[in-house]
Amino acid sequence: MNKPTSSTVILGTGSYLPERIVSNNEMAQIVETSDEWIQTRTGIRKRRFAAEGENTSHLAAAAARRAIEDAAIDPSEIDLILVATMTPDMPFPSTACLVQSQLNLPQCTAFDIQAACTGFVYGLNIAASMLQSGNFNKALVIGAEKLSGILDFEDRTTCVLFGDGAGAAVLGRSNTPGVGIIGGIGGADGSNPEVLCQPGGGSAIPPTHDSLDQRRHFLKMNGKEVFKQAVRVMNQASTDLLKKTGLAPADLSLVIPHQANLRIIDSLTKRLNVPTESVFINLQDYGNTSAASVGIALDEARHAGRIQSGDHILLVAFGAGLTWGASMLKWQE
Ligand code: ACO
Repeated sequence: MNKPTSSTVILGTGSYLPERIVSNNEMAQIVETSDEWIQTRTGIRKRRFAAEGENTSHLAAAAARRAIEDAAIDPSEIDLILVATMTPDMPFPSTACLVQSQLNLPQCTAFDIQAACTGFVYGLNIAASMLQSGNFNKALVIGAEKLSGILDFEDRTTCVLFGDGAGAAVLGRSNTPGVGIIGGIGGADGSNPEVLCQPGGGSAIPPTHDSLDQRRHFLKMNGKEVFKQAVRVMNQASTDLLKKTGLAPADLSLVIPHQANLRIIDSLTKRLNVPTESVFINLQDYGNTSAASVGIALDEARHAGRIQSGDHILLVAFGAGLTWGASMLKWQE
């Protein structure tokens, strides 16, 4: 093993959103809701839903293709594929394996990460550690979700919140010290899984006619409880990571939070005491895309010219589990 003393850097990013745009007014034709209610409570105006037959692996592969092109590497250099998702094409094999095949990537280590909306951030931190071990050279980290496949379109309290999409990054090493992913942090508390879960379909409640009749294979959420926890854990993860990396909120050029709800992001912005202009928000267009959200936002922030070499960027997320995590980047082109 050749243990490097170098940095782990993001060599390229990519994202993919399915074509079909679904407005709040369209959702109001499915459940009793309104554009006004959704926008006021969440900030969401529209979301994307994947086409029939367009699965999480296809969204993931499309985003990955763009990230590989952006990184300008030969795909044969990739020796680690991580896909963060809570909506895999199927329980097994992993979506990472399906992406390996669809993109004709090397037959390398490939596995899924299940950390719900924190998945992409967990993925970056895990990939960075694996690259730093010296056992891997180039990692493809993808967050991808087809949440429309597990939404209960009879439950207005959840189905209006989520959308489909994928974000990806290619990671490699650089000899310049102190750049790239300069710190990571993560956590989990599994003591209250029912506040946000898909109860049916696993080994606890295998799919039966009864479980389907009781709609247990759909996403369930106690929104109020999740809201409270989200603000607390994202603030804690951000504060802890700032401390760990020796940075202050004023050092941050950009904060990219998980795009779940504008009110959650506003609370975090206030608690962190960072200017609103330094917080990236695109949830109005895509809703909550779970594990894909931070990856999509990172890619869009780059294309919008919001990220320059030398910038400190905080990525922070929370999700079902409860899970939370943050990554600190010092961007290097
Ligand atoms: N349209 C119209 N009315 C609605 C809708 C809707 N879509 N949904 C709920 N309501 C009604 C409720 O029935 C309730 O009516 P009632 O007072 O007559 O009972 C009223 O609106 C208020 O409902 P609340 O649940 O109190 O609304 P709240 O202000 O808490 O907002 C929300 C709900 C948006 C879900 C909020 O709690 C939230 O954002 N929570 C966090 C959710 C989140 O971030 N989830 C992602 C987690 S990440 C992951 O891992 C997937």
